[in-house]
Amino acid sequence: MAKAESVRYFCSACGASSASWAGRCPSCGEWGSLEKGAAASASGVSTPQKTKSVKATDVLPPERVSSGIEEFDRVLGGGWLPGGVFLLGGQPGIGKSTLLLQTCGRMAEAIGSVLYVSGEESASQIALRAGRLGVLSEGLHLVCTNDMAGALESLPGKKFLVVDSVQAMRADGEGGWPGSPAQVRAVAQMCISAAKEQSVPAVLVGHITKEGRIAGPMLLEHMVDGVLTFSGEDYSPYRMLRAGKNRFGSTEELGVFEMTETGLVPVTDVSGLYWNKAAETVPGVAMTVAVEGSLPLIAEIQSLATATTFPYPKRTGRGVDVNKIQLFSAVLDKRCGIGCGLFDIYVNVAGGLLLREPAADLALCAALASAVRDVPLPGDCVFLGEVGLAGEIRPVVRLSRRLQEAARLGFTQAIVSAREGGGGKPPLDVVRVSTLKDALKAVIS
Ligand code: TYD
Ligand code: MG
Repeated sequence: MAKAESVRYFCSACGASSASWAGRCPSCGEWGSLEKGAAASASGVSTPQKTKSVKATDVLPPERVSSGIEEFDRVLGGGWLPGGVFLLGGQPGIGKSTLLLQTCGRMAEAIGSVLYVSGEESASQIALRAGRLGVLSEGLHLVCTNDMAGALESLPGKKFLVVDSVQAMRADGEGGWPGSPAQVRAVAQMCISAAKEQSVPAVLVGHITKEGRIAGPMLLEHMVDGVLTFSGEDYSPYRMLRAGKNRFGSTEELGVFEMTETGLVPVTDVSGLYWNKAAETVPGVAMTVAVEGSLPLIAEIQSLATATTFPYPKRTGRGVDVNKIQLFSAVLDKRCGIGCGLFDIYVNVAGGLLLREPAADLALCAALASAVRDVPLPGDCVFLGEVGLAGEIRPVVRLSRRLQEAARLGFTQAIVSAREGGGGKPPLDVVRVSTLKDALKAVIS
């Protein structure tokens, strides 16, 4: 071993280094996290290796391994890569274990033995669940322990590794309770080293904190190849899988699943979730196409205007920012002569979708105008434009993608900004307008 020239201290939480020891890390503020010379293990480089350059053209791309679930593969960028390690974060009870157990079962059927390590449930509980999910397979191997090193002894020969969860496991030789920054880092490091050495793709489940971060050292997200998040609303059976970081693919993809009695089922027609065709001809309903990752989905904005009995009319919004309702009420009043001041206005985006994109502005304005005038909008029309304070309509990103989705679902007309670039022939009738007033003239007589 080379003699240390100078001793340095490294923070087990954030990885910052410092020349002297302190009770609190000067960089991230974590207490009791400075350790002597732990940097090498934090970065995963422990032994010097002979490094030779290779021609990039000579390097063969590794083969991807399917997760057995098409939606999951798409979010991953085409499947797992050998030795690639992902972190899967999400609220307790959201379905992380279910998703991974289903994945393990499918992979065990397709490619051979897989290893599911659980520090949270017993083997009988997991087997029972696997049975209910219909993925009880010969190749599904379970290890239920909190001892990380012991669990990894079963890894050789397996094609996939799941560790549920990184906070429940213990790394001997490292201080602290399971779940403490130092323990989580050590557990993750053991899994990453084992996965890389044996070229096995792996997923580590991570609990998340109240702030939505994965509990443990910040360094954790840098150590892994990708971070997946699994989320959903309490009242809804739908779950969204996204990649917040992915060294092997895009971070734009979204996978949507429905939690059912028999596990998670991919939802392929996402627009269907948010679209209630029957409501189309009711005043106050306007349709737009939102884009989530690379998934376009139809969004239905519903608005209700009733004569107010308050000195200040009420504005309430679910799925849209209430400030936007106020702002566009003012724009409609000033630029289009549609007075909203005598009405209480309620807006709801159907299906629990949250519309933050400016591309939905025009649809919101159209819904408000339609509600205030009590005139329905054409049911076969989508609205795609950003609305400015001058009442001007501005272009939106990914217009062609949105138009394609609208056309696919049977819409025949789209109202867009006159400033949109030409592009090819649009798949439906496109009405180009410069101002909100012109847009409303085209749909509300
Ligand atoms: P789980 O995967 O244990 O969540 P996590 O690992 O993220 O904590 O999922 C728990 C919830 O999912 C539980 O409340 C019951 C529900 N569930 C179903 O609705 N159907 C199923 O088939 C399964 C296995 C779970
Ligand atoms: Mg779980």
